[in-house]
Amino acid sequence: MRKSTASAPGKVILLGEHFVVYGTKAILGSIDKRIQVTSILTDEDTINVKSNLGSISENSSISLKKIRTPLVPFFFLAKKMFDEFNYKGGIKIDIESEIPPGVGLGSSSACCVAGAASISRLFTKLSKQKILQLATEAEKKIFKNTSGADCTVCTYGGIIEYSKSKGFQRLELSRDIGLVISNSKKKHSTERVVSKVVKFKEKNEKKFLSLLEKESNLIEEAMHYLKTNDLRSLGKAMSLNQNYLEEIGVSNQNLQNIINIANKTSFGSKITGAGDGGCVISLVDNSNADTTMQNLKNKKYDCFSVSINPKGLDTF
Ligand code: PMV
Repeated sequence: MRKSTASAPGKVILLGEHFVVYGTKAILGSIDKRIQVTSILTDEDTINVKSNLGSISENSSISLKKIRTPLVPFFFLAKKMFDEFNYKGGIKIDIESEIPPGVGLGSSSACCVAGAASISRLFTKLSKQKILQLATEAEKKIFKNTSGADCTVCTYGGIIEYSKSKGFQRLELSRDIGLVISNSKKKHSTERVVSKVVKFKEKNEKKFLSLLEKESNLIEEAMHYLKTNDLRSLGKAMSLNQNYLEEIGVSNQNLQNIINIANKTSFGSKITGAGDGGCVISLVDNSNADTTMQNLKNKKYDCFSVSINPKGLDTF
C-alpha cells in the first residue's frame, strides 16, 4: 500500500491583497495553523476525498467539469498524476485541517500545496518549485485569476514579499510576529470580491491608479519596518492599507467594528485576503495580545492568536 503525507501552513496577507492582482507587491506570512493531506493508492477505480467539508467519491475517469465542490483541486491533481503515469487504480485522500475555510486564511491554497505534494509523491519526487506550479494550477480550478501569492507562501513558509511578475523573496525574521485573528464568520468568494474590484477600477481609473502607487510605496515602507522590527510603524502601515481596501469597497461595517475594537490596543488591524467577510488580523506582541483578545471576546467575536511561522511545506 503506497501512502504519502504532506502538510502546509495557512497564511495571512500582511499588506497588499487585491492590489497584488494589478502588479504591486504584497507581503504574506505563513501561520502556525496547518492542513495535512494523506494519500493512499487503492485497487478500486475511484477518487475518494474526505475532509471536514464533507466526503466525495467518484469514478477515476470522471470529467473535472462534473465536479462542483471546493474539493475539485484534489480531483485535478489525482487525475493529472494518473494520466502522466498511466495509472489505472484509485486513490483515497484524507484532509485534516486546523484552518477555517473561506475566510482568507489560505485554507484552499494550503490544501492545493499539501495535496500536490502528497499526491505527486505517490508517483515521483518533485522539487518545491514544481509542487508550487502544480498547486497553483490546482488552485486555478477554483479561482482562475489567482495572483499565485497564497500558494507561494504556503509552499515556502515564513514572510515573503511577492510580485506576480518578479516572483518572491523570503525575509528572515529575527523575532516572532504575533497576530490576533478575528473571524467575522461570513465566508467570502474570492472570485466575487475580485470581480467587484474590477468594476471599481473600471469606474474609477484615476483613483485606482493613485491607490496602486500609494500601496506600492506603503509596501516598501512596511518591508523596512519588518527588517528593523518596528512593529508600531508596521501596525500603522497595516491600518493605512485597510483605508485603501475600504476605498476599493472590500470591507464592511462588521469588519470595521472588529477593527475599531482591536485598534484600541493592537498596533494596527486590517482584513486579510479578499475581504467582504472573512477575517481581520491585528498586529500584537506580548504587551497587548491578551487585552486585544479579551476586548474582542467581550464583544462576542470569535478570535484566536497565531504567530507567523517559518515552516512551509513538509512531507513525511
Ligand atoms: O481571500 P483569499 O485567501 O482567497 O486571498 C485573496 C487575495 C487576493 O489578493 C484578493 C487575490 C489573489 O489572488 O491574490
